[in-house]
Amino acid sequence: MTLTTQKEQTTIIPHGGELVQRELVGSQRETYLNKVSAMKSLELNAWSLSDIELIAIGGFSPLTGFMGKSDYTRVVEKMRLEDGTIWSVPITLAVTGEQADDFEIGSEIALVGEDGAYYGVLELEEKYNYDKEKEARLVYGTTDGAHPGVKKTYEKGEVYLAGPIYLLNRPNHSKFEDFYLDPSETRKMFADLGWKTVVGFQTRNPVHRAHEYIQKCALESVDGLLLNPLVGETKSDDIAADIRMESYQVILKNYYPEDRTRLVIYPAAMRYAGPKEAILHAIVRKNYGCTHFIVGRDHAGVSDYYGTYEAQEFISQFEAELGIQIFKFEHAFYCTKCENMGTAKTCPHDKESHVHLSGTKVREKLRNGEDLPKEFSRPEVAAVLRKGMKEN
Ligand code: ADX
Repeated sequence: MTLTTQKEQTTIIPHGGELVQRELVGSQRETYLNKVSAMKSLELNAWSLSDIELIAIGGFSPLTGFMGKSDYTRVVEKMRLEDGTIWSVPITLAVTGEQADDFEIGSEIALVGEDGAYYGVLELEEKYNYDKEKEARLVYGTTDGAHPGVKKTYEKGEVYLAGPIYLLNRPNHSKFEDFYLDPSETRKMFADLGWKTVVGFQTRNPVHRAHEYIQKCALESVDGLLLNPLVGETKSDDIAADIRMESYQVILKNYYPEDRTRLVIYPAAMRYAGPKEAILHAIVRKNYGCTHFIVGRDHAGVSDYYGTYEAQEFISQFEAELGIQIFKFEHAFYCTKCENMGTAKTCPHDKESHVHLSGTKVREKLRNGEDLPKEFSRPEVAAVLRKGMKEN
């Protein structure tokens, strides 16, 4: 089957060279929709569903499907695909041994959502076993089952199915429809806006003052900011995506220049893989057309599994090859003496004057019913979060 390559709009070249497009449309889609019910099917969880979506829309370019054993092994051990392209986190489809036995190599498998709808097709090229502890150690840097990414790894089936995928239907993002764009569309949008340089910002939290500070510092040096919150699966104590989306709209409206910021969702699952995930996040934003990407303190981290600047130090080694420029920021805080945001680089005052903020602290305060001080969050954001927490 031939799928057309998407047209280039901005100057940054997609990872691996070309933006992948694996969504079936028109008569090809009709043909598949007619034959999909006769195929053996596999139910995907929300995480895997988001993976096929990201592959199909080109966010995970150059991947065209779930990784086979040689790509998988090289990614885990050497952080590269078989052809040498940098890739940091394996994109795989796990099933139980029993399920794997039921599927024949060379067959097409209908990929069904938890809602029973057909979302895609996998052309099964390979099935292979893998070492969970090794994957945990090399990708997450820990074998501790309490780490949310490692926990998922330990809970998955023991066989990976691999091969190219096609998307038949998009997962439902109706709540965020206005903020859903494919990488080809964000590229076109940046070109239409005349943005030559764009900084991408990953977040799984409501935007607090430190986020705002580092975004705006970055925005001083580039044409536009893509606020690109992750709205796929997160751990249960993270703030729900719909509450966060409301908070992003409120802060953009009140505190950001309209012509220099855009809000677009990143429909992926959060891995909490720290340094390795920082690289995945940068690759994806490059595919979305960003020329720059922000990595602040403990990017994609959880608890104290990673050092404060581990992700920055790690990604620095690959920056030239990745092709997207990384803006690295020190731990930002509010200084009561400066009456401003700052970092150790810009503020001369001692620790007693510093209000340290993080997504975790924001969540803690909200859970305890405490007010979010203005040093933490903009009042409009705090109001959205308080309301959201009450309703949930
Ligand atoms: S993440 O898991 O998506 O990385 P979060 O939403 O908290 O978590 O962070 C989004 C981005 O802001 C990341 O690049 C992170 O490193 C950065 N960041 C968060 N808090 C701070 C802070 N206080 N100072 C500097 N950078 C920060």
